[in-house]
Amino acid sequence: MAFKKVWCALALGFLLPFSCAHTDFFTSIGHMTDLINTEKDLVVSLKDYIKAEESKLEQIKKWAEKLDQLTATATKDPEGFLGHPVNAFKLMKRLNTEWGELESLVLKDMSDGFISNMTIQRQFFPNDEDQTGAAKALLRLQDTYNLDTDTLSRGNLPGVKHKSFLTAEDCFELGKIAYTEADYYHTELWMEQALKQLDEGEVSSADKVYILDYLSYAVYQQGDLAKAMALTRRLLELDPEHQRANGNMKYFEYIMAKEKEANKSSTDSEEQEKETEVKKKDYLPERRKYEMLCRGEGLKMTPRRQKRLFCRYYDGNRNPRYILGPVKQEDEWDKPRIVRFLDIISDEEIETVKELAKPRLSRATVHDPETGKLTTAHYRVSKSAWLSGYESPVVSRINTRIQDLTGLDVSTAEELQVANYGVGGQYEPHFDFGRKDEPDAFKELGTGNRIATWLFYMSDVSAGGATVFPEVGASVWPRKGTAVFWYNLFPSGEGDYSTRHAACPVLVGNKWVSNKWLHERGQEFRRPCTLSELE
Ligand code: OGA
Ligand code: FE2
Repeated sequence: MAFKKVWCALALGFLLPFSCAHTDFFTSIGHMTDLINTEKDLVVSLKDYIKAEESKLEQIKKWAEKLDQLTATATKDPEGFLGHPVNAFKLMKRLNTEWGELESLVLKDMSDGFISNMTIQRQFFPNDEDQTGAAKALLRLQDTYNLDTDTLSRGNLPGVKHKSFLTAEDCFELGKIAYTEADYYHTELWMEQALKQLDEGEVSSADKVYILDYLSYAVYQQGDLAKAMALTRRLLELDPEHQRANGNMKYFEYIMAKEKEANKSSTDSEEQEKETEVKKKDYLPERRKYEMLCRGEGLKMTPRRQKRLFCRYYDGNRNPRYILGPVKQEDEWDKPRIVRFLDIISDEEIETVKELAKPRLSRATVHDPETGKLTTAHYRVSKSAWLSGYESPVVSRINTRIQDLTGLDVSTAEELQVANYGVGGQYEPHFDFGRKDEPDAFKELGTGNRIATWLFYMSDVSAGGATVFPEVGASVWPRKGTAVFWYNLFPSGEGDYSTRHAACPVLVGNKWVSNKWLHERGQEFRRPCTLSELE
């Protein structure tokens, strides 16, 4: 799949969608924690309902027992019993009013409170799209981090605090979602896992016949006719009358026979193989590099190059604010130069920024170059919000810090963007700067292109979530309280294509970052151009 040429959304307030009650829960842990609390409240309400229902039953039971005793005595000697005037009166009273009251009690609906809570909360529940999104996130993680299906199903992930596993039914569900995406590779993996768990004796409502039906189709779609036939045979052993399977079996036999014939003159299939190989090659290089870097399997820098990476105390080029208290700076990469600042944002500042952003987080958007509009995209899965320096002294202080330490004017920069990536949240390879062939959305701002990126890591990530540069092979790991900085443009104003980068999917945990995109205007004397175009 070719990556669309798009840039990140601009900080144009009027273009940003207002955050609404329901937008893609699965993209951010922040919103999902609300759901956990909602669920907790609903359980309390459900328990109240159970209690009310139990006390109602208790009352009914008592009544039944009382009447049971009474009628037992009465029926033994009805006339003697009714000879007592009190008994006669009580019988009238019971039949005329008390049975009616009991009827009302039996009819009384105890579920009102729970049902109305449920109705209110349901408006904020995830929908099918959220469920599919969360399932796709699992499949994405499986690919990126080379997780085998069994490991993922058993929940054996690095750094997890709360182990959780998938049932055969969950696996079947994942397989079905892959199937509806025509993703037969994952359909096969997950249907096979569901089957395996059932074969191992897991008690489940998942049905082997259904699973085999999907599985054989997915296998057939991927060209393994022999295996598809074996699976269909297995299905027919369980359900000999299965119509589709019987039909498929005949069809497979027919194709098999035809293929055998064709195999005698085999040049065709060889050519086909070559073709698919070419197709794979077209697509894989960047994707494969990206995924390798995400797994931390990047090619290591040569020792010679590595030796030229240093760490130092940095005073912002003799900036008065940093002369007495310089900050720690580390070289992360040489070309493009990526530096990391340590202890550059405090835990308190992080909390403030997160609290300011939380109510405003909405699904991050990208610019669609065809329509010129902001849209959501599978390649950017996170929630973000913009914070202005005017709304909080903390944000303003952070902006000043960026200005002092980069030596760049922040008055032309976009507002501080805060992003939260949930599990599976990612931003596939992209450039932060606008390319020449794109309709110029930066023109409206009048501040030029995005000259540089400053990125704060506001959380550690248990597993995954690196920022990677596939062109050059750099992986930068999130470390809470640090920030990285790089130039997107050469001093000439030309875009530096080696800065292509991505945010890897979060495997376990939750990733908070905030970033500042600095623009060209205002930097004319701070970063003057040189005579060369590409340095
Ligand atoms: C971005 C970006 C990287 C990250 O928001 O443009 O590249 O690691 N983020 O979050
Ligand atoms: Fe970026």
